[in-house]
Amino acid sequence: MYQHVEFYPGDPILSLVEVYNNDARPGKVNLSIGIYFDDEGKMPVLQSVRQAEVKRAAKPRTSPYLPMEGLAAYREAVQHLLFGKDHAAVKEKRIATIQTLGGSGALKIGADFIHRWFPEAKAYVSGPTWENHKSIFEGAGFEVGTYPYYDPATIGVKFDEMVAFFETLPPNSVLILHPCCQNPTGVDMTEAQWDKVLDVIQARGLIAFMDIAYQGFGEDLDSDAYAIRKAADMSLPLFVSNSFSKNLSLYGERVGGLSVVCPTQEEAELVFGQLKFTVRRIYSSPATHGAYIAADVMNTPEWFALWQSEVYGMRDRIRAMRQRLYEVLSAKIPDKDFSYFIKQRGMFSYTGLTEAQVTRLREEFGVYLLASGRMCVAGLNPSNVEYVADAFAGVLK
Ligand code: LMR
Repeated sequence: MYQHVEFYPGDPILSLVEVYNNDARPGKVNLSIGIYFDDEGKMPVLQSVRQAEVKRAAKPRTSPYLPMEGLAAYREAVQHLLFGKDHAAVKEKRIATIQTLGGSGALKIGADFIHRWFPEAKAYVSGPTWENHKSIFEGAGFEVGTYPYYDPATIGVKFDEMVAFFETLPPNSVLILHPCCQNPTGVDMTEAQWDKVLDVIQARGLIAFMDIAYQGFGEDLDSDAYAIRKAADMSLPLFVSNSFSKNLSLYGERVGGLSVVCPTQEEAELVFGQLKFTVRRIYSSPATHGAYIAADVMNTPEWFALWQSEVYGMRDRIRAMRQRLYEVLSAKIPDKDFSYFIKQRGMFSYTGLTEAQVTRLREEFGVYLLASGRMCVAGLNPSNVEYVADAFAGVLK
């Protein structure tokens, strides 16, 4: 019956976590999946989240279905965080926002919507990107191409090549973009570069699909949303998928959102209806708990302020680990320039290590990176950073 079913070789990120979990070596270090761990190597429970949970747990609660679009207070909080609560598009009700099953759910609903209403459109992901972008858009029926992005020679952006590529694309081509903390490279565009890219998107009538999973981990909550807000200012066709997995440390609650910025309120209502229909025929409605907690944290000024300081604490810890790794490696291998570790932003770093070196790291040292050389810097801590630097030096020499 099922002989014809193709073998699934596994996901490059999630399968590696399984291998790591089965590794019996006590000194193993997980720098594979994008999860923030604290200085003690533990996933934190944020105080802001804890306070909201304690308050909610004090009263018995029923668990009714949420509407297809999710919790209203949550959807409002998503808009305020992404666009700023005074943004014209928010005030004019031109943004259709739904609660989704994490950022992945937002990508899937957005991809299904675009493919249904713009069936000729092709999608383009950055070279390289998070592996699941391509899978999700292909799964929604898209032909997916790649636009030039990362330049290993400069450990920067292939900016001119990328812009020249965008200038060849037909209208309604979908560009999947990372507004901050690019996954997997950690290499972001400057604001001036974003301005240029958004001008090209406008001139050619392209659709920007911005996926923001690390808001607050780059510069700050507002600066990290620069590209989103600027695109909304310009009234570009804009889809934004966002995730609170990392910045609320609520991975398993699947707290995400999809926002579509529209030219008019009337169009936003049409889009909103179709997003609801898309949800209904896939999973009907989203889950309650994470949405209530996220909404309570975002919408209670005192908890919001606490949360913001906790996000910046995580950002600063990642930066400190970048600095430490840079210092230790520079001392060990003085003729090599490791400054890219401190220039890259967010959770990830493209280390430049080859697949063979990554394999050696795993087999000889129990240090786990993705085969692409991507390292999750948030897995480093004061107890393992020297060991990891030693291991890197061991495979680099
Ligand atoms: C990652 O890139 O490691 C994270 O976004 C987790 C995931 O689902 O892949």
